[in-house]
Amino acid sequence: MEIWVLGALGRTGRAITAELAARDLTAVLVGRHRERLAATGAKYVVADGAAAIAAEIRRRRPAVVVNTIGEYAATAPAIARACLPGGHYVDMAADLPAVRRLLDLHDEALSGGSTFVTGAGFGVLATEAVVAKLCEGRATPSHVQVDALASVASEGGTVGVALAASIVDAMTAVSARGAKPRTLVLPDGETAKVAGIPSGELLAAQRASGTPDVTVFSGLAPTAPAVRAVLPLLGRLVSIPAVRRFTIRRLAAVRTKPAPRPRTHTWGHAVVTWPDGTRREGWLRADEAMDFTAAVVAETAVRLARGEGKPGAHTPASALGADVAEAAGGTFLL
Ligand SMILES: NC(=O)c1ccc[n+]([C@@H]2O[C@H](COP(=O)([O-])OP(=O)(O)OC[C@H]3O[C@@H](n4cnc5c(N)ncnc54)[C@H](OP(=O)(O)O)[C@@H]3O)[C@@H](O)[C@H]2O)c1
Repeated sequence: MEIWVLGALGRTGRAITAELAARDLTAVLVGRHRERLAATGAKYVVADGAAAIAAEIRRRRPAVVVNTIGEYAATAPAIARACLPGGHYVDMAADLPAVRRLLDLHDEALSGGSTFVTGAGFGVLATEAVVAKLCEGRATPSHVQVDALASVASEGGTVGVALAASIVDAMTAVSARGAKPRTLVLPDGETAKVAGIPSGELLAAQRASGTPDVTVFSGLAPTAPAVRAVLPLLGRLVSIPAVRRFTIRRLAAVRTKPAPRPRTHTWGHAVVTWPDGTRREGWLRADEAMDFTAAVVAETAVRLARGEGKPGAHTPASALGADVAEAAGGTFLL
């Protein structure tokens, strides 16, 4: 029963492998640099690009595939389909097109007896889990508002293509739509600025609550007026494929310095309103956002390997229940 980690030598890949080891599971490392993989002493598979990875999955049939190679909208469906029938799939997509594309594979996953989980990262789970808890056993609400506020430490080094692509796609989404910035007061008394962003959290909260009327705010969306003023133009520019590729290449090469997390906790927050005016509010508190993400992915992979996931294509709480957020180190404040 093998768990493969694609992009195993990357930032999240390494952290997930360590989280799996902490749960007594040895991952098979999948990457594109034979020498670096061999130097780890772990079992590994060499494959470069989604097509080669999918071919290896079909040949060797791992029980669970964890995808950290990024560019999910373009590459995840081919990799997830390679897990059919019976194999399970997890990724950390956060942008709306990627999450939607994976969820669109629901019928294929269902008939193949597989579970596909997308959005197994901080923002999607931290917000959908709170919505699911607040809506448990109640009628469909009329409106849901969620806030995702990640506190991320930087290990330094280059941004890398996978993360650069996610940042560029998020900026394009913000420029297209999104509510105005506001100040969020956190349960520990700190404050933070958040702004609207149509990201994967939107679909997850819609599915967890049953209402289409969802607003998503995120601490990752730009809040400075000068930056927001140029976003529509930037969004139009990076929607040109050649400009997008160039921007991702340049951003990927940018070097960042090591930096501690900006605040003690990472927060997911939801306010749910029902047609009769009833309003419920809740939070999920976690520590550093990338540590939480790695724990979410490892916990999800372990549960899928044990056959505990609902067949079909899901976000994490929808596949495994909201409690997976607690198992990954989160605490609900409802
Ligand atoms: N939703 C969330 O909360 C969340 C949290 C963290 C990360 N993420 C997302 O997860 C992804 C990974 O982030 P990261 O920071 O771990 O990136 P990273 O450090 O750049 O790691 C990506 C890994 O994937 C490999 N890779 C990239 N393209 C590949 C390809 N075509 N074929 C084979 N291997 C390939 C890279 O190999 P090389 O080393 O050879 O380049 C690298 O090992 C990003 O999309 C990021 O936005 C989401």
